[in-house]
Amino acid sequence: HPALAVSRAALLPPPGGPGDPAGQALPVESRPFASYGSALHIALPQAPRAGQLLTLLIDYEAGEGPGASGVVEQPLTGVLVPPQVCWLSPEQTAGKQKPYMYTQGQAVLNRSFFPCFDTPSVKFTYSATVKVPEGFTAVMSATSWEKQKDNTFVFKMSQPIPSYLIALVVGDIVSADVGPRSRVWAEPCLIEAAKKEYDGVIEEFLVVGEKLFGPYVWGRYDILFMPPSFPFGGMENPCLTFVTPCLLAGDRSLVDVIIHEISHSWFGNLVTNATWGEFWLNEGFTMYAQRRISTEVYGLPYTCLEAATGRALLRQHMDATGEDHPLNKLRVVIEPGLWGVNPDDTYNETPYEKGYCFVSYLAHLVGNQSKFDAFLQAYVNRFKFQSITADDTLRFFLEYFPELKEKGVDSMPGFEFDRWLNTPGWPPYLPDLSPGQQLMRPADELAELWAADGLNTEAIEAVDITGWRTYQLVYFLDQVLQKSPLPEGNVKRLSKMYPKISKAQNAELQLRWCQIVLKNNLEAEYSKVKDFLHSQGKQKYTLPVYRAMWGGSEATRALAMETFSATAPQLHVNVQNYVKKILGLGGAE
Ligand code: BES
Ligand code: ZN
Repeated sequence: HPALAVSRAALLPPPGGPGDPAGQALPVESRPFASYGSALHIALPQAPRAGQLLTLLIDYEAGEGPGASGVVEQPLTGVLVPPQVCWLSPEQTAGKQKPYMYTQGQAVLNRSFFPCFDTPSVKFTYSATVKVPEGFTAVMSATSWEKQKDNTFVFKMSQPIPSYLIALVVGDIVSADVGPRSRVWAEPCLIEAAKKEYDGVIEEFLVVGEKLFGPYVWGRYDILFMPPSFPFGGMENPCLTFVTPCLLAGDRSLVDVIIHEISHSWFGNLVTNATWGEFWLNEGFTMYAQRRISTEVYGLPYTCLEAATGRALLRQHMDATGEDHPLNKLRVVIEPGLWGVNPDDTYNETPYEKGYCFVSYLAHLVGNQSKFDAFLQAYVNRFKFQSITADDTLRFFLEYFPELKEKGVDSMPGFEFDRWLNTPGWPPYLPDLSPGQQLMRPADELAELWAADGLNTEAIEAVDITGWRTYQLVYFLDQVLQKSPLPEGNVKRLSKMYPKISKAQNAELQLRWCQIVLKNNLEAEYSKVKDFLHSQGKQKYTLPVYRAMWGGSEATRALAMETFSATAPQLHVNVQNYVKKILGLGGAE
């Protein structure tokens, strides 16, 4: 039992994993990305026999996190390379009374939480014993947990999972039941709102998911509302999804995030991408599954409307990066340099929305929804608890539908599977979203009216938006943003006319409103931009707003600098690095 003391445990992935293209541990200077950490080499006292079982006991400490002494700043780039266990001060929580800690494993951050084979191609079970101070509760992504004496919590995950799905939170948190196998967790000051948001609705999503994709194997499905700086909308930690508190809109309007994370219970957590270069296998299939569940529960028109807002995000992403950017392929190469991709950068719209289009294309080839649903269920059953590549997926698809294989659907000119995977750019096939027209058309028409030179006040006043769903407003604002800057004065009047939008507390509306305010130089409302960035730290909200500020006037650039210097310590360190890059402060590569 060699016992090692490793002060800041960080491991390279095993040979052949991302970041180790040569199949060998690289010396520190030539590591592809600073955040990959370094290998832990273990010398055994004597050579083991073949088949011999070894127990390794590794004694290590994780660092203290951003702002604390554990942070290593790269001397030239200013990139923060912290231990990625997040330690929050009381001010960074909703209740502002007690500190909080959490881990976020995806994509390659758990190597600084515990020594592991930090690649999605390796799966294992785990157990953990966590002792926390009085007044704190620990929760983990585990199938069972139990509180013992001395405030010690014992967790066990009995299904094999990849390293990125292990997650821990310690804080002043409490729970409330919202369904037969679901409860919400939150700080005491948020628990009532959390219960109200999702009481009685989670079970239906699980039941529909099981009907479509097969048994839910994880036992419980609980939801943990994180502090405002949590960088994601949701994270599908098994048994215990982590979500941003921005979902507490009061009207369940952002429940698509929950349906998305539930969908990962089959796509991602059961059938897992073997490498981060094929992240679309997790997210594209999950977007498809999410919209299947949404269609069953909320109907096709609403689901098409939501998908249209997703398509708008893909358009914005490709416009911002350039269609030919290496990120805009479904299969990316995890490599440093111009044509390669950092695993953190795979979190963009391409794997999600282009991936969704590819899966929709496969369904289109089949031409029959229930046949395709049956295929998805067979696919999950075939590859559950495994890590696979897109080649495995597509081979199984062609075997499952031999008539399509015979037709040569994998090499139809313009739609070759190889083109889908390896060519950057706009998807060659887009699913038909016209069933959503009844909800989109009024929003399209209203946006037209507001973009006109002389406002047709009568026509505008004839449209009543009070009954519109949140995603209809989101869609409307996306259209307005696309047409911005509007003629002088229009946005100011729009703001006055629709307080439901300009004074919204719903984060999806706030994001679009901030972008519109900036694009139209509506100085009177810059304070709203600042307030929004102070109120939360979600990456998909924070980066677009900073990009809009940096791409604007001198005044908005100054606003960006001022806001960042005030909020940086609150942000997740990855988000900090991305903002630094936008502001030219030498951030992430
Ligand atoms: N697994 C992702 C979040 C993630 C991706 C974390 C990459 C770290 C690296 C999660 O399932 C997700 O996709 N969340 C989305 C939800 C949305 C698509 C409904 C998000 O956070 O925006
Ligand atoms: Zn996801």
